[in-house]
Amino acid sequence: MKVEAVLVLDFGGQYCHLIGRRVREHHVYSEIVSYDITPEEITLWGKTLNVKGLILSGGPSSVYDENAPRFDSAILDLGIPTLGICYGHQLIAYVSKGVVKRGQRKEYGVTYVTIDKPVSVLEGLERRERVLMSHGDTVFSLPSEYEVLAHTENCPIAAFRHLNKPIYGLQWHPEVAHTEKGTLILTNFLSKVCGCQGDWTMENFVEKAVTEMRQTVGRHRSIVALSGGVDSSTTTMLAARAVGKRLTAVFVDHGFMREGEKDFVKNTFEASGIDLVLLDERKRFLEKLKGITDPEEKRKIIGEEFVRVFEEEARKVKAEYLVQGTIYPDRIESGIGRHTEKIKTHHNVAGLPTKMEFKGVVEPLRELYKDEVRMVAEALGLPGKIVWRQPFPGPGLAVRVIGEVTQERIEILRKAELIVEDEIEKTGTNESLWQYFAVLADMRTTGVKGDSRAYGYTVGIRAVESREAMTANYAKLTHELLEKISVRITNEIPEVTRVVYDITNKPPATIEWE
Ligand code: XMP
Repeated sequence: MKVEAVLVLDFGGQYCHLIGRRVREHHVYSEIVSYDITPEEITLWGKTLNVKGLILSGGPSSVYDENAPRFDSAILDLGIPTLGICYGHQLIAYVSKGVVKRGQRKEYGVTYVTIDKPVSVLEGLERRERVLMSHGDTVFSLPSEYEVLAHTENCPIAAFRHLNKPIYGLQWHPEVAHTEKGTLILTNFLSKVCGCQGDWTMENFVEKAVTEMRQTVGRHRSIVALSGGVDSSTTTMLAARAVGKRLTAVFVDHGFMREGEKDFVKNTFEASGIDLVLLDERKRFLEKLKGITDPEEKRKIIGEEFVRVFEEEARKVKAEYLVQGTIYPDRIESGIGRHTEKIKTHHNVAGLPTKMEFKGVVEPLRELYKDEVRMVAEALGLPGKIVWRQPFPGPGLAVRVIGEVTQERIEILRKAELIVEDEIEKTGTNESLWQYFAVLADMRTTGVKGDSRAYGYTVGIRAVESREAMTANYAKLTHELLEKISVRITNEIPEVTRVVYDITNKPPATIEWE
């Protein structure tokens, strides 16, 4: 059975992923696709998904910009319900020969919209509704086959629908919490207009993932890369369900793990009956990173070395498939899409070497965001200590030691990490945090320790709140807590003379420093 899905055409808007996530919250699968997707490509998606709707996202451009992203308007003739949001709304009006005026006055923020016709996507809305608007261009008129559904003081056509086709436009953002009835609008679009039943649940996902994995690997043996994080642990449980005894889980200690990681994995998975191999490859990875300071190079070397280790192990157990826990944001940030900018090479995506001995790489979680993975983990019965574990990057502490990775620097950082984790967890505030960790900067600064001059390392503390790591806010930890951490780090780690707190959001920074 194909699951119901909505394709979100990405015009570069900051809320694009939020749209995708809101759709999924309605139990309808969503996929972010490039804005210039063709009708043929949409038909191709139809082979694997039951495509019930399209959403054109917002974006920073004006329809009059020279390089403005345009879409193939023939997709409006496919008969698939389509909703344009903000720039998407303006673009539909523009290609339909409506009048779109370049904004003289930008409208940004919470505003009130007058609902002229509370029908279809706007069913159930009051005459006056609070919404979030953020636009420069404005739709002023539309051809007669369109009908106006809402307006504001500055915006005569704030919502419209086509009279004969399932095409809708909204100048405001239903996906953000500031739009009071945003959820109702999306529910209307998904259930009333697209006719979605909401068949995408985590239980269905597990069933689908297991079936697909069985189809892919057949009766061959597989190895799964298990690091002990929620993604790889969930992947391991899914793979075990799919192929049973024809699976070997391989944990590679590359030397950049958190304290006690190997024992954690051993204790957690030993009783599961899964064939588990624990490898100590610390020397090998450190050797490979000697003299390397460029973060992307580090990531690529680690990615490649991981695969080489897995290949060697696969040869021993005669496995032909590599299963790994790549998730959706890993693929997005590694720049997999046609117009997706590469932010960093996630070790298990773009970090993979082009030539591998495996027959195939299987990534059952490749469509999921982290919080969805946690739901799958719960559905699979994984213990809470794994389900709610804070994320940890595959290359580990190597991307938290800025500059060259040496044994000494890794050890300093590992001690600092432990203090940060310990102090934050003691306050209980960790539950509201996405991640909290330490980084070791590649600079030394002057300090004074025991009455004498000290010239030592700088440790950065990073703590962020986020829902799915695509965006994040730095956590407003109390000064008291920060001071406690700082005092402990400088007291307990003689090589450190200075501790700083990272107060940057993502964007513009990423969560990890490298
Ligand atoms: P950034 O630093 O890009 O990180 O804001 C977003 C989230 O991804 C984690 N991360 C990784 N996870 N392999 C992983 O499995 C990687 O190479 C990798 N790099 C970053 C990071 O910890 C954060 O949660």
